[in-house]
Amino acid sequence: MLGTRRTLSTLILGLFVALGIDAGTAVAGGSKDFQPSVMSEKYRSECSSCHLAYPPALLPLASWRRVLGSLDKHYGVDASLEPAEVLEISKWLEPLAGTYKKVREEPQDDRITKAAWFVREHRKIEAEVWLRSSVKSAANCAACHTTAEQGNYNDDFVRIPK
Ligand code: HEC
Ligand code: HEC
Repeated sequence: MLGTRRTLSTLILGLFVALGIDAGTAVAGGSKDFQPSVMSEKYRSECSSCHLAYPPALLPLASWRRVLGSLDKHYGVDASLEPAEVLEISKWLEPLAGTYKKVREEPQDDRITKAAWFVREHRKIEAEVWLRSSVKSAANCAACHTTAEQGNYNDDFVRIPK
């Protein structure tokens, strides 16, 4: 019974992939919920002090490897950690990296904000909005996604600040 059920869900997931529906959406039943089922305390404490803890599912494995492999030169800052800490984060993060259609492509600079899907989803936002002091950067997801800290990027919870 369990086996059958598992086979069935694998089939359904395969179908979503075939149809180009991303698994993040499919699994969460229509909401853009990217919160990992198990959160790493190390990731939360070390990777959310300068910005929020980005959902692992929003970058492919190769991008995460480069990000974690170059923390001393991290987007203009030094975000170095002890090798053991990097290893702990990698072990948790790598299996959760994005594999579905939209995310599989490695974005420029390994930035979520440079991914084609990101640009498309945000194309209606005026250039001026990104420059507001309340936003500052596209990487500042929580400025507009009020539930970003919970991994929820559903557009129902978007509010663009003044
Ligand atoms: C010392 C501060 C600091 C720490 C600690 C830090 N980051 Fe960053 N991170 C930055 C800055 C600054 C940027 C660039 C933000 C921008 O462009 O607005 C950035 C950007 C990123 C981006 C790209 C965002 C985009 O544009 O899509 C990723 C991915 C990322 N960080 C992952 C991590 C991970 C993983 C960790 C933990 C190992 C981490 N960061 C820890 C400062 C930090
Ligand atoms: C300036 C405000 C703003 C920032 C900053 C921002 N977003 Fe968005 N985002 C939006 C808006 C507005 C939409 C809804 C577009 C629409 O209505 O179709 C959106 C849509 C999305 C969607 C699709 C949601 C859906 O239900 O279809 C995802 C996923 C997403 N954003 C992720 C992110 C991530 C991850 C970051 C940070 C790396 C980010 N956004 C930063 C405003 C923002």
